[in-house]
Amino acid sequence: MKENPHIAKIAVFASGNGSNAENIIRYFNDPSSVHGGTAEVALVVCNRPEAPVLARAAALGVPAETITRAQLNDEAEFMRIMEKYGIDFIVLAGFLLMIPSFLITRYSGKIVNIHPSLLPRYGGKGMYGRHIHEAVVQAGERETGITVHHVSENCDEGAIIFQARVDLDTTDTPDDVERKIHTLESIHYPKIISTLVSGD
Ligand code: GRF
Repeated sequence: MKENPHIAKIAVFASGNGSNAENIIRYFNDPSSVHGGTAEVALVVCNRPEAPVLARAAALGVPAETITRAQLNDEAEFMRIMEKYGIDFIVLAGFLLMIPSFLITRYSGKIVNIHPSLLPRYGGKGMYGRHIHEAVVQAGERETGITVHHVSENCDEGAIIFQARVDLDTTDTPDDVERKIHTLESIHYPKIISTLVSGD
């Protein structure tokens, strides 16, 4: 039995720009946000020292750990980091390394990813970032969307938790698609995480 209400601690894993990471941090960590105090982003994990997400985390006062692929795959070393920050839940937001199986086992049901397409379409190897939006435009799709899913050992194949769709115009470029996707992500991802973390 826990004596005190436990505020779930989230680690956001990101490799690049970090607009989702920033949005999630603001949603949970801003004391003036109505969601403040329901959970906390306690750590950003990044594998690229030059990634803009690191500056975003620093500006928002969230600690970050920059790790190599080898460190991520070293169970003892990586779990020391997770334990140091008391991480309960892992959110992937543009993280480009595969998640090792020990982490999937240790955080069973507690690792989620967002993919910028309507999985299973435009998922799998090589389908990340701009490549997806280019493929969607190239195929003449009239809609696209986002998928939040559990993380399994196979890329983009974990159970789907949530999808949201957006219409595309015939004139939309990959940049336009990316903007539409980011809007959807910023509306939905923090809310879905909140529901999952609180077990509602
Ligand atoms: C997002 O579109 C997300 O769906 C995908 O990678 C992109 C990351 O964007 N997995 P950002 O770094 O959060 O701006």
